[in-house]
Amino acid sequence: MSPRSRAALLSDPATIRRQFPLLARTRLHYLDSAATAQMPEVVIAALQNFGTTLRANVYGGVYKLAREALAEYEAARADVARFLGAASPQEVVFTYGTTSALNLLAHSFGERLREGDEIVLSILEHHSNTLPWRALARRRGAEIRVLPMTPEGRLDLASLKDVVTAKCRIIALTHCSNVTGALTNVAEIVGSARAVGAAVVLDGAQRAPHGPLDLQELGIDFYAFSGHKTFGPTGIGVLWGRGDRLADMPPFMVGGQMIRRVTPETAEFADPPRRFEAGTPPIGAAIGLGAAIRWMEGLDWGAVANHERRLTGRLLEALAGLKRVRVIGPVTTEQRRGVVSFTVSGMGSEQVCRRLDAYGLALRHGHHCAQPLMLTLGIEGAARASIAPYTTEDDIDQLVAGLAEIAR
Ligand code: ALA
Repeated sequence: MSPRSRAALLSDPATIRRQFPLLARTRLHYLDSAATAQMPEVVIAALQNFGTTLRANVYGGVYKLAREALAEYEAARADVARFLGAASPQEVVFTYGTTSALNLLAHSFGERLREGDEIVLSILEHHSNTLPWRALARRRGAEIRVLPMTPEGRLDLASLKDVVTAKCRIIALTHCSNVTGALTNVAEIVGSARAVGAAVVLDGAQRAPHGPLDLQELGIDFYAFSGHKTFGPTGIGVLWGRGDRLADMPPFMVGGQMIRRVTPETAEFADPPRRFEAGTPPIGAAIGLGAAIRWMEGLDWGAVANHERRLTGRLLEALAGLKRVRVIGPVTTEQRRGVVSFTVSGMGSEQVCRRLDAYGLALRHGHHCAQPLMLTLGIEGAARASIAPYTTEDDIDQLVAGLAEIAR
């Protein structure tokens, strides 16, 4: 990114919101950005531009159009690397989303595991950060150990000392819960992992949409996130891995675009990241993600965080005043993002969200791909409102008014 003065960074929520055509066209109170965020005009334009001026495959073509498509694809990789604070764009693997990034990792990095090795997960994890590791454990004879949560809905880091043993090889945890919104204190986890030589994997699907990261500083090994939650297109995601880790990993999927040399009997694979990008990648979506990242870099994240925190606080406070409503997760704005799940006594979450829909309120319901967490909480599911830079006070107030009506 060319250095931008602070004054040039976008901070006004109304101006930010106007950049989202879908929100400008409808009267919808869109409170489901944790599932899929809306796309700003510049991302839609980048996708359109790919279709009209750039569409060609990325490897193997020497003609001008193919070179331009490749240059844009690699520029998007550099955009992501800068956003993550990666040491090099070569540490950025394009995948199809967080789920495919974590499956890639479990199949590739994970294949080194031996019988008796341990993988630490938590009860707060999304199924995407549970099921690939459970399947790996079954394949390799490894054991899964589960970090519990605190009554407030945070990872119970005090239990790390009991859960992380000398046999631990991988600690795979959420950076921000998609149900409770709680943010993870990564330093403590890295400390425990280093003590036993385990790798740290973070599921960043819910953290990446909230601004640039410094993964090198965090001291972790792998990070996964999705394009469609970070204001980009669907069908694109990222696996970041430390260069030395990626260099050491075998491919997961094999096929086109990821080889160095194939003979009738043998195959040598390309260096990362191409080693992990078999087949024609989602080229247009990667370019769209690059545009989304550059758009995010144009925001004043201090101001955006304040806006989101203010709205989260407004919602939490109002929910506390509704008799039949119970918040799942931290009830203050400390160390959390604006992902707010709640139940309404005597009403299933689907019914709650259907009734809210009648007021033009778009919220997600159900188990949020975290059924073990729901079982632990003893609930079938929860309604969830999620807050983005374009969310308004009116969105929150309409939600509270709608809930007051239906919980009456
Ligand atoms: N994984 C997405 C969510 O938590 C769909 O909403």
